[in-house]
Amino acid sequence: MTRSLRLCEDVQEARDLHRLAFRGDAWPGDDHVYWIAREGSKVVGICSAVDEGERVFLSRAAVTVAAQGRGWQRRMIAKRVLWALTETQAAEVFTYCRRDNLPSLTNLIRAGFRIHVDSPRFYGFTMPLVRRPIP
Ligand SMILES: CC(C)(COP(=O)(O)OP(=O)(O)OC[C@H]1O[C@@H](n2cnc3c(N)ncnc32)[C@H](O)[C@@H]1OP(=O)(O)O)[C@@H](O)C(=O)NCCC(=O)NCCS
Repeated sequence: MTRSLRLCEDVQEARDLHRLAFRGDAWPGDDHVYWIAREGSKVVGICSAVDEGERVFLSRAAVTVAAQGRGWQRRMIAKRVLWALTETQAAEVFTYCRRDNLPSLTNLIRAGFRIHVDSPRFYGFTMPLVRRPIP
């Protein structure tokens, strides 16, 4: 089966998928870039990032329950780090992760992120992670 992770050109499609994946969570914004994961024609995930100038922020990632554990999030992290490197002038990539989200923590650290308490965003129940320099 073909697996693809492609840029989403249709903001409304991204909005609809985000609502399905994150229910009541606030929409990250039309200025974020969205990628959609598909297995064949079936949508199995969505992720996003935003170029903030000096930094790129990885804002969201979700994979459907049925497709979890197949490396999608790992691929989503790699895709967005590569985008930061090739399409932006950012010096670092940052994100955050719930402290109990062990799959995400595993994947982020494996991708070169480090836990960084001085990061510009730090929510109480999450931990900030930074990757620098961009490869
Ligand atoms: C978190 C989430 C994105 C992970 O997506 P995924 O595509 O299943 O992740 P991957 O398959 O790339 O990798 C998961 C890794 O975590 C590991 N993992 C799974 N459960 C784990 C646990 N309890 N403790 C440690 N590692 C764990 C897996 O073994 C795998 O590593 P491996 O490739 O070495 O086997 C997905 O579960 C999800 O969408 N959750 C709901 C939304 C969410 O939490 N988003 C994250 C916002 S940062």
